[in-house]
Amino acid sequence: MSFENRKPCGLLNEHNLTEKIHVSGWVNRRRDHGGLIFIDLRDRSGLLQIVFDENFTDFKTVEKLRNEFVIEVEGTIRKRSPEAINPKLPTGMIEMVGEKITILNHSKTPVFDINDSTNVDENVRLKYRYLDLRGKEMQDNLKLRHKVTISMRKFLDDIGFWEIETPMLGKSTPEGARDYLVPSRVHPGMFFALPQSPQIYKQLLMVSGMEKYFQITRCFRDEDLRADRQPEFTQLDIEMSFVERDEVIRLIDNMIGYIFKESLDIKLPSSFPHITYQKAMDKYGSDRPDLRFDLPLVNIGDIVKDTEFKVFKSILDKGGMIKGINGKNCANELSRREIDGLTNFVSQFGAKGLAWIAIKEDGISSTIAKFLSEDELNNIVTAMDGQVGDLLMFVADSKETTNAALGALRIEIAKRLNLIDENELNFVWVVDFPLFEYDAEEKRYVAIHHMFTAPRTDDLDMLDTNPLEVRAQAYDLVLNGTELGGGSIRIHNPEMQKRIFDLIGFSDEEAEEQFGFLLEAFSYGAPPHGGIAFGLDRIVMLMQKCSSIRDVIAFPKTQSAADLMMGAPSYVSEKQMKELYIKSSGIKDIKK
Ligand code: AMO
Ligand code: AMP
Repeated sequence: MSFENRKPCGLLNEHNLTEKIHVSGWVNRRRDHGGLIFIDLRDRSGLLQIVFDENFTDFKTVEKLRNEFVIEVEGTIRKRSPEAINPKLPTGMIEMVGEKITILNHSKTPVFDINDSTNVDENVRLKYRYLDLRGKEMQDNLKLRHKVTISMRKFLDDIGFWEIETPMLGKSTPEGARDYLVPSRVHPGMFFALPQSPQIYKQLLMVSGMEKYFQITRCFRDEDLRADRQPEFTQLDIEMSFVERDEVIRLIDNMIGYIFKESLDIKLPSSFPHITYQKAMDKYGSDRPDLRFDLPLVNIGDIVKDTEFKVFKSILDKGGMIKGINGKNCANELSRREIDGLTNFVSQFGAKGLAWIAIKEDGISSTIAKFLSEDELNNIVTAMDGQVGDLLMFVADSKETTNAALGALRIEIAKRLNLIDENELNFVWVVDFPLFEYDAEEKRYVAIHHMFTAPRTDDLDMLDTNPLEVRAQAYDLVLNGTELGGGSIRIHNPEMQKRIFDLIGFSDEEAEEQFGFLLEAFSYGAPPHGGIAFGLDRIVMLMQKCSSIRDVIAFPKTQSAADLMMGAPSYVSEKQMKELYIKSSGIKDIKK
């Protein structure tokens, strides 16, 4: 038997009737019916039923088979008898009559059922990831991931992009997270940083005249992990020269459309709508709004600007914000306990309370009505289109906390009211981000996207006078409330880059020390350029409707950035540490 003659179990069908065929794979299940043994053989393509009867010369070998044994079988395909047909299985019309069998390997009893691992504790799945990956769901996820990367490469290659690799060992790049560092043996006391993204390299490739670059590459960020974040993850990274914002956006509209068509046979609209950052924050409290439902936030600051209600007044006096959201029918549907639960929910986002007004048949019940004038109350109800049955909920706090708390509450209410169509794919471009935000702790401006992002040319006059009002030529693509990717048109002029470094508080020496090479490169004829990067894991996760990016990564890390299968990270020997000129203060149990 040979590799080349081997046929995929799951693709055999009635066209193969009477053919003598060779298959190999894993014993998915063995059913013993006395004189007959049925083996469901599994390979990457699916399952095939193989029948052995007791007259088979090697029946003893078949009796020895257990789940996950690796076997090779030769036999003839025949139709199943009518009562044995299984319409749920692609190969359910046929079966193989086994004529020759070889056991290629034995297996211990697997620690969980390969066919039903999704309910198994995730830590156990991750420890035995190689078994977890045998299951159909994980194989489907990795197959889709493969199709997605192939279609990205094909799309970009067809329009003249070159795939170029950039180093893993580099210098710390300022993407905002902590770096993973690699000590240098030959340069005592010095460290490489693993890339948080290839940002600087790709800009330098534009200076080098590569014009259209992409790379599907690993990035490393030591940050707090969530379901959609991993310490090492994969980006589709893109950069191009002589390009304007809307050209990048159009290219990506086309690319995403191509990927969905090729990998899932889904036709998307030819372009995605745009929303400004300001509108997204005002109306949805988030710069990655889920627009599968509306449920807007309403700013009631103007209505209560002269209120006697101390909580609201003190927030407005401090320059804070008061916004509300209308939970349609929630006054009827939610119990008092559930409403109290929502107060706890918003407190996770820093809100100090959740005020509410329930509009009922027999009047209003509310935590705050008694503090408000009749006019204020009526105006609030009107502004929020309050109808009988509605529950109006409010947060008063700093702008950031109010938006964060109500933005999250908006999604929570949508879930509870079943407003989310799980099959909808709602893409939106968020544009016109501010260039900077103010970091009160560090008392300085910080770049919202990154410090190489170009300001909008029509806002340049505010750069010195009112930097927080300057908008960036940056854009994020959001799908169903998750940021898939983000990018910008870059600064290509060394003077402008210096001005931005200056505004974010880099001294000339610091700028020179960290980015002197970049400023110098820009002085040798840098073309105008811009680009974008996508989280590949996130794209596949949403395409496959998984709840965690771990489900679309072959060997992911846990929430605490560890690899349970290999046991990484791990202590290293004293000798290795010495060679690297490292002493650790965190070591309890060093290997000799
Ligand atoms: P940004 O930091 O927005 O931009 O990253 C781009 C995209 O990468 C994905 N992503 C992640 N995915 C999984 N785990 C993580 N920890 C993680 N962090 C980010 C997101 C995100 O949208 N250099 C710029 C791009 C550019 O300007 O061209 C950059 O890296 O989907
Ligand atoms: P108090 O006068 O502090 O008892 O607050 C009256 C009502 O306002 C209570 O229902 C509180 O939950 C609510 N509340 C207090 N602080 C806030 C806040 N920052 N935002 C929204 N509601 C609040």
